[in-house]
Amino acid sequence: MLRIEEHPILGSLKDARRVKLDYDGREIEGREGEPIAAALMAAGVRTFRYTKRFHQPRGIYCAIGRCTDCMMIVDGTPNVRTCVTPVKEGMKVETQLGYGK
Ligand code: FES
Repeated sequence: MLRIEEHPILGSLKDARRVKLDYDGREIEGREGEPIAAALMAAGVRTFRYTKRFHQPRGIYCAIGRCTDCMMIVDGTPNVRTCVTPVKEGMKVETQLGYGK
């Protein structure tokens, strides 16, 4: 698993509540309150969207909500910046193509 469980400054993640979310029809696990992007990265997901014109893959770049590379469709809403949007139980996250619909 690609997740830091013990951090020297931030402490332990072991007590964080585990939640389930749907990623393109696949169930993955996240920790309540962490960014959606963190849950996806821990599950091995690297491509979050494809560009409109050339269909090039995009994923995490800035991780602070500035670049828009991590935009996905979340619960039916396109263009959600997953690096700054917290995970919630049962949310549906979809890979975005172009501008989304
Ligand atoms: S990775 Fe840049 S806005 Fe999310």
